[in-house]
Amino acid sequence: MDPVKWLISVLLLLFLSHLSISTDTITLDHFIKDNQVIVSSGKIFALGFFSPGSSRNRYIGIWYHHIPEKTVVWVANRESPIKDNSGILRIDSQGNLALFQRNQTLPVWSTNVSITGTRNSIAQILDSGNLVLLQNDTRRAVLWESFDYPTNSMLPFMKLGLSFRTGVERVLTSWKSPDDPGIGNYSYRINPSGFPQLYLYKGSDPWWRTGSWTGQRWSGVPEMTSNYIFNVSFVNTPDEVSITYGVKKASFITRMITNETGIQQRFTWNNQARHWIGFWSAPKDQCDFYGHCGPNGYCNPDHLDDFECTCFPGFKPKSSEAWFIRDGAGGCVRKPGISTCQKGEGFVKVPRLKVPDTSAAHIDMSMGLKQCENECLRNCSCVAYASAYAEINGGIGCLTWHGDLIDARTYADAGQDLYIRVDASELARFTKKGLFRKKVVLAVTIVSAAVLFLILVPLLRCFVRRLRRAERKRKRKNAFRFTSSSLFEDSVGEKDIDKSRRNGDLPFFDFSTIAKATNNFSSDNKLGQGGFGAVYKGVLINGNEIAVKRLSKYSGQGVEEFKNEIVLIAKLQHRNLVKMLGCCIQGEEKMLIYEFLPNKSLDSIVFGTSFFLFHMLLETSLLNH
Ligand SMILES: *[C@@H]1O[C@H](CO)[C@@H](O)[C@H](O)[C@H]1NC(C)=O
Ligand SMILES: *[C@@H]1O[C@H](CO)[C@@H](O)[C@H](O)[C@H]1NC(C)=O
Ligand SMILES: *[C@@H]1O[C@H](CO)[C@@H](O)[C@H](O)[C@H]1NC(C)=O
Ligand SMILES: *[C@@H]1O[C@H](CO)[C@@H](O)[C@H](O)[C@H]1NC(C)=O
Ligand SMILES: *[C@@H]1O[C@H](CO)[C@@H](O)[C@H](O)[C@H]1NC(C)=O
Ligand SMILES: *[C@@H]1O[C@H](CO)[C@@H](O)[C@H](O)[C@H]1NC(C)=O
Ligand SMILES: *[C@@H]1O[C@H](CO)[C@@H](O)[C@H](O)[C@H]1NC(C)=O
Repeated sequence: MDPVKWLISVLLLLFLSHLSISTDTITLDHFIKDNQVIVSSGKIFALGFFSPGSSRNRYIGIWYHHIPEKTVVWVANRESPIKDNSGILRIDSQGNLALFQRNQTLPVWSTNVSITGTRNSIAQILDSGNLVLLQNDTRRAVLWESFDYPTNSMLPFMKLGLSFRTGVERVLTSWKSPDDPGIGNYSYRINPSGFPQLYLYKGSDPWWRTGSWTGQRWSGVPEMTSNYIFNVSFVNTPDEVSITYGVKKASFITRMITNETGIQQRFTWNNQARHWIGFWSAPKDQCDFYGHCGPNGYCNPDHLDDFECTCFPGFKPKSSEAWFIRDGAGGCVRKPGISTCQKGEGFVKVPRLKVPDTSAAHIDMSMGLKQCENECLRNCSCVAYASAYAEINGGIGCLTWHGDLIDARTYADAGQDLYIRVDASELARFTKKGLFRKKVVLAVTIVSAAVLFLILVPLLRCFVRRLRRAERKRKRKNAFRFTSSSLFEDSVGEKDIDKSRRNGDLPFFDFSTIAKATNNFSSDNKLGQGGFGAVYKGVLINGNEIAVKRLSKYSGQGVEEFKNEIVLIAKLQHRNLVKMLGCCIQGEEKMLIYEFLPNKSLDSIVFGTSFFLFHMLLETSLLNH
């Protein structure tokens, strides 16, 4: 052989052997042993043997080839690990891909499909992360694919759901633990009954529910807005119910897993940081947990009172004790005396909801919302209705519920409207008319209270004055000494003195104190002129700032009346609320002392309704004199 030819054949051999090392297929002639892998053509995914976590068991798995953190997205023999390094993955005599252990004739794991015709099949790992078993003929039919048997991870373009034609159901199941990829307690699957929904189950119990498809997203996943990353397609046909999360940019690396503790998580790979980032997860809050508020109750995470559970209109808690101790799981029952299918029934709208479980709901895509209402009203078993695809053209289709309403919750700024059937009396409570009537009643009550107050108080004052006059006749001999106690004594008698002292009622200020504080009522201290006199700013010796309302000498009020006024006010008002500190009377001078509030004219200060009323009262009564 001439040297050139020899060199060429050696190079060719080297080249071919290199090719066989980086192959993406397992064939009759090419199997893999424990320390070998096959890699997809774009070098994105690898298939080979691995040990999870701290375990030493060997499993066949698929992981990202180009990501430094080993992230397994699929496991073949998850329930039957190999305890040593003797595993071999090859095409068996039947054409199945099978995993064998040393000295054993039966496989540990197999694709286990019945193959007719050519049995020299080919197994190939694709850049999507899908492992496919192909028939080695011209058609290259797919005999089996790993995407039909997901473990805990959902990759882009992988379907979840059911094919009614083939009977295949694609379900995510959690691992047992980070050390054990065996089938754990949680599964994520589409429930096709009624109006299809995705459920996260714990064993066979619903744990969390995505809600039904609203046309753009799952109703229980409000954060799933249309975006430039994901291309979600939901299929609901007689042949198939499925969901696929595509990505619009092939370079975008994302996966969703059902984790061991019952959390559905989506991760995205961050190339800069070189680690996975938690992108989304559910369930999030207590309202996400299935049936948290029981039948006919709904959950509001932003509740203002202590309890997140509320009964739907027309319902009351099944057990008020359970409700009292904040346990909503028992849910709600119809209020007594309310029977459906009576005259005057209607619907109450509950907005911003993840609508109740639709697995027993009835669906009619041909109806609009108005038709839906009529249909529900006509059918005595119908308890609620809503749009099916609430987010398409303002809502299309008709969903009706005919039993308990389970697992509804509200969102602050998402969700859809649910219409609950109620009888005439409930309707009156909830409808706009009812609410309006309520408001009017409230307004009338407030106004009458205010009017009563304004009329009653002067009447009361007259009454007190008459009493006092009678008393004064008896006490004529007693000299009037100008002290605070005598003032009270003179106006209301011993009993009241005690009371006002005990209550710490309005103290009296010396005229000299006030004169000093206001710099002898200097014009510099004058804050303004109100309707009944000037207002001065002052500083007491202790440094407290005060505002002094010096009532006009021409207000025509006598000392007696003024004293009465003060006593009355002192008895009626709460000092802290009004921030009135006291009063001062000397000869013709009558003053009210307030706490000083900067930047506000005293006349404009309104400390809530009661102060406003008192102030008004004072002014009106002064006006009367
Ligand atoms: C497996 O088979 C080989 C020969 O094929 C034999 O030497 C070895 O002892 C066997 N090992 C076991 C554990 O049976
Ligand atoms: C293959 O499938 C058959 C029936 O479909 C079953 O009995 C058998 O255990 C399966 N074998 C493996 C290795 O999974
Ligand atoms: C596919 O089948 C043909 C003929 O049946 C055979 O020559 C070829 O080697 C097979 N290829 C693989 C990868 O098994
Ligand atoms: C699954 O749930 C059962 C019952 O709650 C529990 O005993 C078991 O430990 C759980 N298994 C795993 C792998 O978490
Ligand atoms: C989105 O998905 C639909 C249906 O699966 C497909 O026809 C379309 O090309 C996809 N668009 C993008 C940008 O991936
Ligand atoms: C499951 O996800 C939750 C939320 O991200 C996390 O706190 C928890 O540690 C995860 N469990 C496991 C076993 O990874
Ligand atoms: C009420 O609606 C349910 C569900 O659509 C249906 O099965 C039932 O026959 C209807 N009843 C009447 C009286 O129309």
